[in-house]
Amino acid sequence: MSEVDAAADILMEVSLDDPVPSDVAPSESTLVTIGATVPTGFEFTAAAEVEEKLGCRCKISKDRGKIYFQINMDGLAQVHRLRSVDNLFVIVQEFSDFPFKESKEAALEDFKELASKLPWEKALKTWELNNNLKKKKKKRRPDKERKQQVVPSVTDRTDKIENDKETVAPSTAQEESSSLDQQEVDSPEGLAEDLSPEVSPEDDGGEDSANTETGKVLKFRVTCNRAGDKHSFTSNDAARDFGGAVQEHFQWKADMTNFDVEVLLNISYNEMLVGIALTEESLHRRNITHFGPTTLRSTLAYGMLRLCDLEPGDVIVDPMCGTGAIPIEGVNEWPACFFVAGDNNRNAVNRTASNISSLLKRQQSSESYTQGLPIDAAQWDISRLSLRTGSVDVIITDMPFGKRIGSKKKNWDLYPACLLEMSRVCRVGTGRAVLLTHDRKCFIKALARVGHLWRKMHTVWVNIGGLHAGVYLLKRTTLDLADSSSERLEENHPLSPESPAKEE
Ligand SMILES: C[S@@+](CC[C@H](N)C(=O)[O-])C[C@H]1O[C@@H](n2cnc3c(N)ncnc32)[C@H](O)[C@@H]1O
Repeated sequence: MSEVDAAADILMEVSLDDPVPSDVAPSESTLVTIGATVPTGFEFTAAAEVEEKLGCRCKISKDRGKIYFQINMDGLAQVHRLRSVDNLFVIVQEFSDFPFKESKEAALEDFKELASKLPWEKALKTWELNNNLKKKKKKRRPDKERKQQVVPSVTDRTDKIENDKETVAPSTAQEESSSLDQQEVDSPEGLAEDLSPEVSPEDDGGEDSANTETGKVLKFRVTCNRAGDKHSFTSNDAARDFGGAVQEHFQWKADMTNFDVEVLLNISYNEMLVGIALTEESLHRRNITHFGPTTLRSTLAYGMLRLCDLEPGDVIVDPMCGTGAIPIEGVNEWPACFFVAGDNNRNAVNRTASNISSLLKRQQSSESYTQGLPIDAAQWDISRLSLRTGSVDVIITDMPFGKRIGSKKKNWDLYPACLLEMSRVCRVGTGRAVLLTHDRKCFIKALARVGHLWRKMHTVWVNIGGLHAGVYLLKRTTLDLADSSSERLEENHPLSPESPAKEE
């Protein structure tokens, strides 16, 4: 038995244990393992959503940013309705310890051998079923017409030793190209969306659900993601040689841009996973039609909102809402709450209003039409919110990091003022705040000054476009602002970057 055969047999050992199917036990033949990419840091939130909505437990990938779960094929539509996941794929086979050869030639030979040995059938059946469910990618204007320059993607690993990604048409080295156009455009502050407006709401004109049963020759591409410093090959090499073998095995046609099937080859150190993509574009692209410089992904917004333990009737305020990504995700998922979005920038408030209006239009054209949405937008300054004292249950916001918006220097005034005004409007004893920032030093020092008003309950560390940011969950103490010595903030002790900040 070759090492590749042996590794292929390992599938049974590494397949997910503890699937918790709902009422009817699905048969082995319809059980498939789905992989989903999630915002790094919110893996457990995503796993909790999957357990709650699909009734199955998840495995979280060692290298973070991914979860895996088993479903019955007929539950695929529900998977597309998850709010915490970005991209979906079905697993063809997973190897927990692939014997990558030391010599490049031998390692690539193994990739070639592998294609014909993989158990493709169930994954391809899932892909076929999925063709009617997935949202088709919308056409975008060519790069040169885009309003804003595309920023090369920042990798998701801060401890990266080597991490590369290639999408390659097999066996045509001269045609190899990076799939930059397919990658997320990550900004250093929040995850900026592609700023270019979509050309048309129609599908991309591609052929409808390509079908293995129609006899039509499918078009495909292989995308390889690789992390690890000990491989003798690059992701480009692996994608090309594995892709060549896939082409030979299925007699498919390689096509980099107009493909029916995207085969994924994810290599992380000694682990390898072969999968088939089930999403053409990330599921985080769902709410926002009017983007700003630091629009937050809907999936991150959802993760933050889940931390708040929202109850029907809660009043939730995003006082620095930008394009409104957080409250708009909130009103979609928690329509029994009331959301207020505000910002001091007029353009931001206008964008939020336009995004709310787009959502209303979508709702009006859907069957679940209800009159209006429990959300409103206002222009204000965080230090003087036009809200009654103790009238808010939850404050949730993505604060200026001081990189794209504002400056680190300004944050030394902004953050303490923000925490103080938040403590005024939030309900004493029960109010919560969920705050995202990359300027951790300034935040921790500002928080220390109002430690009598806010108690830090929990911190989730997230990766925002390659930046290590914190999502802080705070609880309002029972101390009344009027009784407290909060005036210290305005006393002769302004916050300064020099004094030490303490963080866990
Ligand atoms: C990181 S952005 C928020 C991005 C937002 N989450 C989104 O998805 O678009 C921070 C926002 O804080 C706003 N801001 C900065 N200083 C402010 C202040 N003093 N009062 C209110 N908003 C402020 C900025 O205009 C900016 O829109």
